Amino acid sequence: MRGEISLPGDKSISHRALLLGALARGTTDISNFLPGQDCRSTLECLRALGARVEEKSPTELTLFGAGPGGLREAPGVLDCGNSGTTARLLLGILAALPFASRMTGDESLRQRPMGRVVEPLRSMGADIRGPEGGKFLPLLVEGGKLRGFSYRLPMASAQVKSALLLAGLVSGVEVDVEEPALSRDHTEKMLAYLGARVERRGNRVRIAPGQALKGRPIRVPGDISSAAFFLVAATLVPGSEVLLKGVGVNPTRAGVLAVLQRMGARITCLSREEEAGEPVADLLVQAAPLQGTEVKGGEIPTLIDEIPVLAVAALFARGTTIIRDAAELRVKETDRIRALVTELEKMGAAVKELPDGLVIQGGQQLRGGRLATYGDHRMAMSLQVAGLAAGREVVLDDRECVRVSFPNFFTLLQELHS
Ligand code: S3P
Repeated sequence: MRGEISLPGDKSISHRALLLGALARGTTDISNFLPGQDCRSTLECLRALGARVEEKSPTELTLFGAGPGGLREAPGVLDCGNSGTTARLLLGILAALPFASRMTGDESLRQRPMGRVVEPLRSMGADIRGPEGGKFLPLLVEGGKLRGFSYRLPMASAQVKSALLLAGLVSGVEVDVEEPALSRDHTEKMLAYLGARVERRGNRVRIAPGQALKGRPIRVPGDISSAAFFLVAATLVPGSEVLLKGVGVNPTRAGVLAVLQRMGARITCLSREEEAGEPVADLLVQAAPLQGTEVKGGEIPTLIDEIPVLAVAALFARGTTIIRDAAELRVKETDRIRALVTELEKMGAAVKELPDGLVIQGGQQLRGGRLATYGDHRMAMSLQVAGLAAGREVVLDDRECVRVSFPNFFTLLQELHS
């Protein structure tokens, strides 16, 4: 693999740019916005809630924010599609706005846990109803002003943390959240960038009462979660040298770099800069042999979405790789532990399922064949990289699902690998 590419915009940051831009007063110009389906879900929900958005191109948008008061009751049901970030962050906002909203999602999202957001929001005074006492979508939210709140999250989750901070912002009350390990801090960073007072102490973050946001331009960094597929592919395909330009390297997101480097990958961070409060770098990756490693504890939230492709890297490493403390993988777009074990075994890999992770024996002879994606974008891209690295043809049951986060994945992969 040879050449250089720019990655599409970061999915987490694209969602936040829309949501916070809609809650701000004034104009927010967003560039390098991710034109994936998940972010389109957020965009369409905000439009239904009355936000004014102009699309100059699929990656350049302008939001004309009028503060939280500029949003109004949506005429129909808000459809979050496949996007957990849309559902959970929006839930925090809607719970605090003075009107009723109905929210739903696709079949996968309707099975993902919402109780983790609904319960703490109820402690703030929110009125939310839905199946099994509000544990799942579809949800009915009777919005209204909420009380200030201090909460210790049972799991590291940026979506839950963000939902609560946004509920505090919209209600103008103080919210204080503590996590067992630090999850991605894009919400905190963007709140501060748009003028809110947000304080962090260790794993604890607090938004002060009475904060208002002011629109500002936001250039979205390239998505490190998308870059990860190319970091692994270029490491594994002999003779490769690839430059990935403008990738977000926020330390709460960039755990995949440290783990790959620990495994022996040759990845160099070049020309660092800052965009909209987020660190960005060019990443040069050259092929290198890998060795197995152990990934666990506080490192997990910094690479949770990259575990499928790290599992693929581990297939080609010398020795064993152990991943634990990652039970959250079971409630992603699909149960990614189960899905990885099933599909990698079909390829001839030696993989063992743990309740909270995987044990992967490197160096097995792999074969191609038909593989299932479970409609999960990251499963699809990881399996494609596995096939490429093994030099075997892999036929995915659903290639379209990559549109959720990386619409041009196959095109870029082909461009570099010719
Ligand atoms: C995200 C947070 C993570 C991550 C997801 C995006 C976000 O989920 O897996 O893809 O944008 O806040 P959790 O908050 O459930 O850990």
